[in-house]
Amino acid sequence: MASVLLVCLASYLLGSIPNGLVFGKLIWHVDLREYGSHNIGATNAWRTLGKGPGFLIFLLDFLKGALSVGLAEVFAPLPLVMVIAGILAIVGHSCSLFLHFKGGKGVATGLGVIAMLMPLPSLIVFLVWLAIVMVTKYVSLGSCIAAALVPILSYAWGYPGAYTAFGVLAAAFIIIRHKANIVRLMNGTENKIHAGHRD
Ligand code: G3P
Repeated sequence: MASVLLVCLASYLLGSIPNGLVFGKLIWHVDLREYGSHNIGATNAWRTLGKGPGFLIFLLDFLKGALSVGLAEVFAPLPLVMVIAGILAIVGHSCSLFLHFKGGKGVATGLGVIAMLMPLPSLIVFLVWLAIVMVTKYVSLGSCIAAALVPILSYAWGYPGAYTAFGVLAAAFIIIRHKANIVRLMNGTENKIHAGHRD
């Protein structure tokens, strides 16, 4: 029981680390909350700081999700605990302990979680996301569709029910976090992705 609680705590704390904010300020002396979408995630790092920084933040945020599930796999290897660790990492990213419970939208961290839980479906989810982003240039559209795909693929692949439940919860959470993006998409005012534009 103690190991389950420790894994949960570690996952939330890991998720809470605001990589975009910390590295944006530390290396590029830029507070991502003041530019672009004002989000601290990889997309806004890419948009505001450029491709390299965007990729770095993506990788670091991805690792938060993957590591959380990895910790559960080692110390409390039960599907339910792995799923809870993944959810806590995503919640930590979006409601960070270090940012007065504010934060990002959970997409890169969520991808890290599903890469550990269901590697092959996660690759499909990533490729679908990439295709949508490359064709439309709307990252948020790709993120919402990719998130919605997770529970469908989990169910179709026959993963444990806990994984599919995770997919439903994570998709709902991520889509809700994109509320402002969805409104902009419907208004035709959503930002298209271009690297290194500080506006
Ligand atoms: O992963 C977040 C992405 O879907 C949207 O980011 O900065 O355009 O709100 P942003």
